[in-house]
Amino acid sequence: MSEYRTGFGWDVHRLVPRRPLILGGITIPSEFGLEGHSDADVLAHAITDAIFGAAALGDIGVHFPDSDPRWKGADSLVFLKHTVELARGAGFELVNVDSTVILERPKLKDYRTPIREKLAATLGLPLDRISVKFKTAEHVGPVGEGRSAEAQAVVTMRRE
Ligand code: C5P
Ligand code: MG
Repeated sequence: MSEYRTGFGWDVHRLVPRRPLILGGITIPSEFGLEGHSDADVLAHAITDAIFGAAALGDIGVHFPDSDPRWKGADSLVFLKHTVELARGAGFELVNVDSTVILERPKLKDYRTPIREKLAATLGLPLDRISVKFKTAEHVGPVGEGRSAEAQAVVTMRRE
């Protein structure tokens, strides 16, 4: 009988001028972008942690420490792909991903399909197993004031 696991991931990055806004590997036109050691792809980081969570393999900081110069400016999809391989090594295959990006602006809904397609290619999953949702924070708190962006992700994994 298959064993099913659920994993949850969350991340936050500051929004600053003169940085690209990269979500799920897609660069989105914006006055502000995400600050971080890597490319600061908050959505990719949340999904990465969700996979580590389902497989109980620690977290993104253990596997890709931001003190390591190898990861400076790194493409977070490289993390994500490597994480899928680590989970596979422990016998886990990804079943589906659900996620939410919380960002006051810009509007992201026109980018849903490109983001899902990029994640599908990275994770080796069909499009209908990848969900990406968007929310504002209703002008409340640091996200609502446009100072940061957050992402949350839930994954299901199966081990035969
Ligand atoms: O946060 P709120 O409930 O007002 O968001 C309404 C809708 O606006 C969301 O369901 C989503 O489709 C869209 N949205 C978006 N880009 C954002 C935030 C929300 O496209 N940055
Ligand atoms: Mg991060």
